[in-house]
Amino acid sequence: MTVASLVSDLDPFAPEVMADPYPMYAVLLKSGEPAYLPRRDMWVITAHDDVRAAVKDHERFSSADGIAYDRSRLPILFGVDPPDHTRLRRLISRDFTPRTVESWRPLVEQICTELLDEAVTGGDVDLVRQVLVPLPVRVIAALLGIPGDDVAQFKKWSEGVIEGFNANARLRPEAGHGPTDPEDAKYRQQAAKQALSAVSNISVYFHTLLDQRRSQPLGADLISRLLAANEDHLRDNELVWLCLALLVGGNETTTHLLGNLCIALMEHPDQHELVRARPELMIPAIEETLRYDPPVQSVFRTATADVEIGGTVIPKGSRVQLSFAAANRDPRRYSDPDRFWVERESDSAHLSFGSGIHFCIGAPLVRIEAETFLRQLFERAEAMTPTDAPTRIKSPTFRGIAQLPLRLIPRA
Ligand code: HEM
Repeated sequence: MTVASLVSDLDPFAPEVMADPYPMYAVLLKSGEPAYLPRRDMWVITAHDDVRAAVKDHERFSSADGIAYDRSRLPILFGVDPPDHTRLRRLISRDFTPRTVESWRPLVEQICTELLDEAVTGGDVDLVRQVLVPLPVRVIAALLGIPGDDVAQFKKWSEGVIEGFNANARLRPEAGHGPTDPEDAKYRQQAAKQALSAVSNISVYFHTLLDQRRSQPLGADLISRLLAANEDHLRDNELVWLCLALLVGGNETTTHLLGNLCIALMEHPDQHELVRARPELMIPAIEETLRYDPPVQSVFRTATADVEIGGTVIPKGSRVQLSFAAANRDPRRYSDPDRFWVERESDSAHLSFGSGIHFCIGAPLVRIEAETFLRQLFERAEAMTPTDAPTRIKSPTFRGIAQLPLRLIPRA
């Protein structure tokens, strides 16, 4: 079979591809050209240089139809183009400078300590449920200044919002035959309904918080800071959508990075030992996980014009998948790309936080969360032993772990 006919058969939504998409990326990377996948009426770009160029080219690759496969129009930061994007991003990015984010480190330390003290007792745990899901939600809740009594309710609403938004990029947990399968479509419609109701609950809550903080600013929390810095006079509704972007953008992604990191270390015991022996390799191990197995495998865009890439024309109006995960394994860019190698040096930079105007605003925070989590885990547990196979989520765009049953052996 030729590469062209192999490509026309490819389906990113096939259950076996979602379980392990890397063989599909290898086929696409063989030619490195943008490929049209007729089964899903979409294009996919995989070559490192082309993905980087496309993600920076927000004029010809628009985010306004949303960044998952299904088109959706919502005023959330990653789903809008300039000029609206510029106004919204200007306000929120003031609070995500490396210096400000660094000042959040003690908070992250404290939350990790509480969660890991409970998890590392020698018994069996599902690390995802007990640590990896609550960690980012509690960090964001604290940064937004959610009062202690409200955190449990806030967590429920955020889970509803996240679940609903991300179901757009996910199929039914039990099966998954693709966006046109009636059962999968029903699952996503239900999730969208649930998301809308969670969005409306949490929006009412955020509006109340905005009113409270306007009359009584707390000072350091993100909501008071957004209000104080709002020189462009963003409307309350826009401020609420900025808060929602932090929830939707920051929670499930962080959970999946930490899960993928644990799995990569357990599957590569030599690398695991190396990182435990040489703590200076913790940050490189996190970056290598982001390259090797990124939580956000790809984002979608809509072509606003005919776009030619290396002789192939992507027609105006096409839905286009920019595959960070494939680009991160492009052999033209990385030596031995399929190897998880924490000492990788000159070719280590990855595209897993995107690039250009939508570059991940939370990247410095994630790096602190992941480093703190890994260091504290190593300090407490001398070994992680799987007690059952991990369950992966089923998604053509996200990659992560739904359940990670482990025995964490405490240090003597
Ligand atoms: C490992 C964890 C994370 C990964 C892999 C990740 C990945 C990404 C990627 C790839 C984008 C670009 C989307 C695009 O180009 O369409 C993005 C944007 C974004 N991320 Fe993250 N993210 C992570 C964590 C976070 C955290 C912790 C937060 C917030 C606290 C956050 C907030 C956002 C926001 C608000 C955007 C939209 C930026 C814009 O459109 O201007 N992310 N993220």
